[in-house]
Amino acid sequence: MKKIFKRFTLAALCVLLSTIMLSACSGNTGGGTADGSSSGGAREKLTVGTYAAFPPFEYTTTNGLVGEFDGIDIAIAKKIADDNGMDLEISNIEFSGLIAAINSGKIDMAIAGMTVNDERKQNVDFSVPYYVAEQVIVVADGNTDITDAQSLKNGKKVGVVMGYTADSIVTNDLAIDEANIVRANRGIDIVQDVKNGKLDAVVIDSYTGKQLAEKNGLKVVEDKESFTAEEYAIAVQKGNTELLDKINNVLNEMLESGQIDELAAQYSEVEAQ
Ligand code: ARG
Repeated sequence: MKKIFKRFTLAALCVLLSTIMLSACSGNTGGGTADGSSSGGAREKLTVGTYAAFPPFEYTTTNGLVGEFDGIDIAIAKKIADDNGMDLEISNIEFSGLIAAINSGKIDMAIAGMTVNDERKQNVDFSVPYYVAEQVIVVADGNTDITDAQSLKNGKKVGVVMGYTADSIVTNDLAIDEANIVRANRGIDIVQDVKNGKLDAVVIDSYTGKQLAEKNGLKVVEDKESFTAEEYAIAVQKGNTELLDKINNVLNEMLESGQIDELAAQYSEVEAQ
């Protein structure tokens, strides 16, 4: 009789224990079952690369919209992630390394005021364009002899950021003497060099150029004939239509509702750095 009782308690204990363990286990995965149907319960991550030295599209600041990052592009990236229930992670990558980072899988997309061009189109796929810019020339306020792109060829020292479209325009289209081209890593540095007289001019994208010029008391020279319109778009790995569709849906909605224009206006007062 005692033996039977013992066996009974042992069996009961086993049942009890396994019930506790089961419920503990299902407690752990319980949260995951709601969204676990797609990818094991975790929210999908969106890894974004940018080169945050391009105000007002991307720059770093103490209290940014996403960590230290802020700007028009950062706000767009955040909306793409939010609207698709994804967790946004931003990496700061030198501009000329962004396309390689996409293709190595380090980042899912690059948003960096990146101009669509044929060479880049061979390596990545682009979203719908979300902004139109052109190049401008930043010169000293008192400068009178640089009036257009051609006048840069008269032995002027011209600064560009390495790998930006201005680099290829100055090097290939205008064919400025290599000895007169100074390539830097950030627009702000070469604009400072115009200010302190080391350079005669900087060729850079219009919105960034205008902000940097204003902040440093410099002048902007436009030449809409030589510098044609450039469209900014988001880049993804070739064939990644799943992500590209998500991006285009958000961009189209933002374009139609005027949200991109609003962002561009909102960030016009930003402290260029
Ligand atoms: N629009 C130019 C280009 O595509 C410059 C972009 C620079 N972007 C940046 N995030 N730093 O080459």
